[in-house]
Amino acid sequence: MIVSFGSVKGGVGKTACCMNIAYSISKKYKVLVVDFDSQGSATHHISAKVGRNLKASIGDVLSGKCSLEKATHHYGQKMYVVPVNYDFYESIDEDRSYT
Ligand SMILES: Nc1ncnc2c1ncn2[C@@H]1O[C@H](COP(=O)(O)OP(=O)(O)OP(=O)(O)O)[C@@H](O)[C@H]1O
Ligand SMILES: [Mg+2]
Repeated sequence: MIVSFGSVKGGVGKTACCMNIAYSISKKYKVLVVDFDSQGSATHHISAKVGRNLKASIGDVLSGKCSLEKATHHYGQKMYVVPVNYDFYESIDEDRSYT
């Protein structure tokens, strides 16, 4: 099952809900949180727990530099996170086409 959190309004608790609900579900089921947010808020949430050495990110996975497995960091008992980094979004900005 894939669950996504979205709202056109900023600062309404999307990231907080995502991380809290993911953590709650992970008490029973395996959960993978994938951070696609350019602000990297979910990544900041986990960096204190997982450590600062988040070398592989979702950008590395999508650009074929590493496997999803390598970019997946263990957070809690059944909770895993794929972090984001700014390099990924810089590359998207370069590629973005305006119509
Ligand atoms: N239920 C809540 N009660 C009180 N404060 C909350 C609650 N949920 C989130 N917050 C606080 O509100 C702020 C914004 O939350 P969050 O970063 O989750 O929002 P967001 O929608 O992901 O924002 P953005 O649009 O910038 O990505 C944070 O400081 C967070 O700690
Ligand atoms: Mg957010």
